[in-house]
Amino acid sequence: MGDAGSETPWPWPEYTREEGELHPDNAKIKKEIAAEYGEENLRRSWIQVCKMLEAVTKEIREKGSSMIREFSYDDFFTMNKADKEEVKRRGCVVVRGTIPTETAEGWFQWMQKYMQDNKGVITGWPKEQPYILQLYWTKAQVEARTHPRAMALQRAIISLFHDDEDLEQSFAAPMAYADAMRMRPPGNSFTGLGPHIDAGSLCRWGDPAYRKIYEKIWQGRPDEFDAFDFTWRKRGDPAYYPGSSQSHVVRAFQGWTALSPTAPHEGSLQLFPDLKAGIAYVMLRPFFRPPGNLGDVLDAEKWSLDLDDPWFPGVWRHTPQVLSPEPFPHLRLKETMTYIPEMKPGDSVWWHMDMCHAVDVEHKGKDYAAVVYGAATPTTEMNARYMKGQLKDFLAGVSPEDFRGGCFEGGLKGFPGESAILNGEEGKRAFGYYL
Ligand SMILES: [Fe+2]
Repeated sequence: MGDAGSETPWPWPEYTREEGELHPDNAKIKKEIAAEYGEENLRRSWIQVCKMLEAVTKEIREKGSSMIREFSYDDFFTMNKADKEEVKRRGCVVVRGTIPTETAEGWFQWMQKYMQDNKGVITGWPKEQPYILQLYWTKAQVEARTHPRAMALQRAIISLFHDDEDLEQSFAAPMAYADAMRMRPPGNSFTGLGPHIDAGSLCRWGDPAYRKIYEKIWQGRPDEFDAFDFTWRKRGDPAYYPGSSQSHVVRAFQGWTALSPTAPHEGSLQLFPDLKAGIAYVMLRPFFRPPGNLGDVLDAEKWSLDLDDPWFPGVWRHTPQVLSPEPFPHLRLKETMTYIPEMKPGDSVWWHMDMCHAVDVEHKGKDYAAVVYGAATPTTEMNARYMKGQLKDFLAGVSPEDFRGGCFEGGLKGFPGESAILNGEEGKRAFGYYL
């Protein structure tokens, strides 16, 4: 996959209507949107987006990993307008040397000792030999979130967005949202995180504020859709339909920083590297029924509008949006899920909250593929509310609200607590101390 043009067997599930969530309210949501914006506009968008995808998927197949732009840390801050537009169009970026190599390698060493010292106590997935660790407050994570270079980068990434109600971009001050980490040993295969989009599923259509983000798509003008308009995005609630895997914060970009080298097929990450066409298609797809003749499935004109079917492909309202080739044929996922380039310790990768991504099935490398997750999390009312609670959880040494169920970290040998927060007042602010 993503090795330009090659097609390998699909390692993840296919999502079919038979197993789908066929809640009768789902059809009501479709009817509401169609009534407000017009069936003709939905159809016009559908045809246009499928056409966009023809060109986009061809480009992804041809260019492979080079679709994902890379910048040195310093260059990221001084990139020209054309590069910035390209990063926004693709919706993802790799930033080399975000953290100095020795620092990232130091965190990796520290983590190995921490795991050794607390063997049998640390929990995670898979249960037998956890490597997606339910750890949120290790020295590596807290320092990675508040490292001055990381915080400056998060601010720059959030600043790609604009908000009509906040022209000064005060929302760009990053908050230190706690997420898990991965210490994945080589040799095992993992199919638990196939192509998906974070930040909820049905809420994108069902929550009136979230729906508003995609207004241009509903209005038949998908080319004018701006995925970096934060005006409504800050209000869209990813936990509108609550669920244990729904986040309570709006993350501008999800991201991770490598603590060890990871390459394609070595426990890395795959992305669908065209933001606008990808999400516009996902938003429109539930309104249309494929043609009876499978041979016509890529011909958008042969699909028909169907507002009575409650099925939203890949949607179970309490979990994130999942994707697979059959219900989303125009994404050509078998060929377009693209590996990020080889990462070295201290490099970071970032992808927009609307971007389809997947965790590598394979890990054929020689050592742990170790990454700390850390989203570029803007300062918003919703996020500040969550961060107040997160700070309490941090100080109590327990897993944060979005990730309940880990061990009692406060009791682990070597638990660093507040001493790991870097960057003085800035770091403490990001942790929610002054809210
Ligand atoms: Fe994800």
